[in-house]
Amino acid sequence: MQRLNTQILEPQSKMEETLRSIWEENNFALDIPIIDLHHTWLVWLLLQLENESNKPDSPESIEKIDTIISELVNFVTEHFWVEECLLDYTEFPQTKQHLIQHRGFVEEISQNISYRQINSNEQISEFIRILKDWLIKHILVEDTKYKEFFLKERIDTRPFFDDLMKNQKSVLISKDQANLFNRISGNDTMTEVISRDIAVDVYKIWKAYSLGLYIPSIDAEHLWLVKVLVELERANKSYDSRNRDIFFKKSILDMINYARDHFLIEETIMKEFGYPEYNKHMNEHRKFIEFINFRNLQKKEKVLTVYLGIVNDLKQWLISHVAIEDKQMAVFLRDSVKEIEEFISIKTNKNIFTIKPEHKRFYIQILKMVER
Ligand SMILES: [Fe+2]
Ligand SMILES: [Fe+2]
Ligand SMILES: [Fe+2]
Repeated sequence: MQRLNTQILEPQSKMEETLRSIWEENNFALDIPIIDLHHTWLVWLLLQLENESNKPDSPESIEKIDTIISELVNFVTEHFWVEECLLDYTEFPQTKQHLIQHRGFVEEISQNISYRQINSNEQISEFIRILKDWLIKHILVEDTKYKEFFLKERIDTRPFFDDLMKNQKSVLISKDQANLFNRISGNDTMTEVISRDIAVDVYKIWKAYSLGLYIPSIDAEHLWLVKVLVELERANKSYDSRNRDIFFKKSILDMINYARDHFLIEETIMKEFGYPEYNKHMNEHRKFIEFINFRNLQKKEKVLTVYLGIVNDLKQWLISHVAIEDKQMAVFLRDSVKEIEEFISIKTNKNIFTIKPEHKRFYIQILKMVER
């Protein structure tokens, strides 16, 4: 994890005491280790956010808030993935309702973190209040339902978690998360697990934030952008400054190409198919270009937080612009998907649109994971 990140998430004893008392007083433990670890981490992140939002407004505190929210997005991706796999595995009868709840939470996050929308601590306080209410209710009511189902049906979840832990590709536990959980639960069994498969991480984000629009050519481009994010975040966490720099430059180039190729396709389609929010949407696209330029400048000025900044920007973009604005566009275009695909393919053949073959290949790879 980056220097700044570790600094922020470093256990602070007072906050840890608060976490412990929330944990114990509410009887939060489901006695399902990885799920419990995830729940402690979520409460922990919310406490961090709360703490930060109580400080006076400053560019520094906004940067820190962005970082914690970025962690929160990672966490939610990971947690919902594991929990939903578990509910599938155990054939929990209320899985569908549970999934609807999760999507609701994701929507709450997406709605609130539209690019640079949160800029005052007042807004963030309201946001935290909503998240906290949701979380506590969800763990105590909804998650307890599956715990009781497991007990009643005598379902042993250990084989599921053993498989998950052994197969290091499908679960991710950071050192900070493992240590915090061990301290809170009085355990010493949880250890760090690092994921290695980029495609799995991309798919997790794709699924948790429901990024699919069901317009293949557009989905392929959005998926590519998620891949850029995953690679960038990994390079940042690797502590290898040369690697970090290589990925920074590569990602900036990728994003510039993305902005040129993808926005042209989206904007042409919106115009061609009469999307009423065309102007508003186009203005949003400009913000993407603005943050790339801004981070590029920061890089030249050797600003240390630039690596973290670009990850936050990109993540906010995906779960606000793609998950909300692009989705609204897709809802409007729903009945014309076939015509849109034909339109894109004609323009691509005439070299007016560019869709890179590697983007298509990656999209097909992810589609296969969805079908599994
Ligand atoms: Fe849940
Ligand atoms: Fe898009
Ligand atoms: Fe867009």
